[in-house]
Order: sequence, then structure tokens, then C-alpha cells
Amino acid sequence: MPDQLTPIGDRLLLYRAPAPRQTASFADEVRAGLSATQKRVPPKYFYDDLGSALFEAICFLPEYYLTRAETEILERYAPAIVDALGGPIDLIEFGSGSARKTRYLIAEILLRQRSGDYKPIDISPSALIDSARALVSEYDRLHVSAYAADYFDVLLNARLSTSKRVLALFLGSNIGNYEPDQARELLSAMSAAFKPGDALLLGTDLKKAPKTLELAYNDPTGVTAAFDKNLLGRINRELGGHFDLDGFEHVARYDVARGVVESFLVARRGQVVAIDALGMQARFSAAEMIHTESSYKFDFGDIEGLAGDCGFRVARHWVDAQRRFAVNLLVIE
Ligand code: AVJ
Repeated sequence: MPDQLTPIGDRLLLYRAPAPRQTASFADEVRAGLSATQKRVPPKYFYDDLGSALFEAICFLPEYYLTRAETEILERYAPAIVDALGGPIDLIEFGSGSARKTRYLIAEILLRQRSGDYKPIDISPSALIDSARALVSEYDRLHVSAYAADYFDVLLNARLSTSKRVLALFLGSNIGNYEPDQARELLSAMSAAFKPGDALLLGTDLKKAPKTLELAYNDPTGVTAAFDKNLLGRINRELGGHFDLDGFEHVARYDVARGVVESFLVARRGQVVAIDALGMQARFSAAEMIHTESSYKFDFGDIEGLAGDCGFRVARHWVDAQRRFAVNLLVIE
């Protein structure tokens, strides 16, 4: 993508991938996932407009502490983080969303240098443009190049390395959604795209009591259940599915040995569900499960191991007062 950027304003450029990598469509992935022995739907399909709004609501739940814990860390330690790297710094963010937590870092960086570059990457163009516009109007010395693309598209095709030190952000424990092999593939692609001395700020939820983790992923208000079931709602809306959402129960269990919370939709009874656009009938036996998400949890050994396997070393980490979540500064060797 020899930088095909469209100027939207004075300090805002939008990049759209001209030829996105061959990614399977929602239809293809639902067909394959519901035909498999262990039925599954990949978690990236949670985030249509309704799903994104439900995730924002999850972040307000008392049981879902992750977002608050990470915000606490960035608010408190942004100066230490920026000082640990040393400047001048350009920022890039994978999965920028509303970029609310990023503001602590942007503000700190602009205290130390005349101007700054921020490259947010997000799969959702509307969220990306809204947050990019807000940022250029809030910070008059900030330049934003927004990439509406898949992470790998940008990592493999865009020229991301700059003459300044690059700080890449991958927050929210989003890394936890990747199976260990995929997580290593993604972090290795990140370390390969930047130069020695550049860094990745990685947010990771920490291993803790199974009860606490299971409540975070199955709250009594039922918001997480609604978020999970929205996958079936989305199949109904976009693919002519005939799921009865009451026919499934949201379940989240923490596997201590593997360090992962796995979310499932469990059939309350045997049922056959037609999906018109796919010309298929999905058959469920009573108690059959659809795997919808893995949320891996980490200890410091896991983080060191992952970093070391992918061309990074852990320079420092910061935790919240209750030691529930860690923000790790991984430097490229
Ligand atoms: C946004 C992927 C980090 O796994 O904790 C929240 C999504 N799923 N509640 C997570 C989620 C259920 C979340 N991530």
C-alpha cells in the first residue's frame, strides 16, 4: 500500500486498503464454523454497531474490571511510560476504537516535543474517522494518519517505521483473544515492522481467582450474555438466520491449566436452525456448545516468554493498585 492516503483535513489522512488480504467473509466463516465438529464463530464478528455498543456497556459493569484497571495505569503512569522510552516519539495503535486511554499518552508526548504523529488502525472506518477527527481538534500539534484495515494488511504493506522512536500500542488485553500461535504470529509481525529501540505497549489481563474471572465474563446483569448472543442476532440479521436467542445460554468458564476464559453459547434443547443466505440447516443437540471467544490471561512469566519468542524484551511493566492488570513495555532487540 504505497501510502494511498486521502487527506480529510489539515492534519488528518485516511488510508483504506486498496486490495485487502484475502479474508474470509462473515458468511464463509459462519458456514465453516457451524459445520465443524466443535461449532464456533470467531470473536471479531461481535463488533457490528450493536455489538460495539454492548462492549462499551460491558466496560461500565462492576464485574468487568479490565478497562478501568488499564485506564488507572495509563492515567497514573503515562509520564513514566513516555520517559522509559525516551523521545521524540511517534505513536501507532492497533485496535484504537475510541482512543480514550490513548489521550493520556498523547498529552504526555506533546509536553515533550513540538509535534507528534499518531497512526490509529481499526477495522471499523466510522469509529476510526470519528475518533481521529476528535483528536486533531483536541490536540493542535497532532498529525493523524488513520488506517481502516486489518492489522496484518497494515503490518505487511504500510511503511510504518519512522525516523523517530515508534511506540506501538496494543491495549485492552486484546492479545488475549488470540490463540497462543496466532498471538506469536501477530507480535512477530509487529516486531518485524519496526526498528531496534522501538517499542510495543501491551495491555494484558493477569491470571487470578477463577470466580473473579468468570464473573467478569458472565455478569449478573446479563450484558455479556447479550453481547455473546448478538452473534446469533447478527447471523439472523445479515444472513437470514432463524436462531431463537432464548434457545441458547451464555456460559463462561476459566480453564486454570491453560489460563483462558472460554465463552460458549450452549443449546438449551435440540434444534435445527435454517440460515437462508447460506442455504444450510445447522443442527444442535441439547447442551451442544458454540465456542465464541477465548480470553487468555497472563502471568509475568507468560509475558516474558511471549515477548522473547517474538523479538522483544520486557523493559518494564506497570500494574493497577489491585494488581489485576498489567501494561508492559516491550522493546525491540
Ligand atoms: C475486548 C477482547 C479484550 O476478551 O476481555 C468482554 C472482549 N468479551 N467481555 C475480552 C469481551 C466478553 C474483551 N476484549
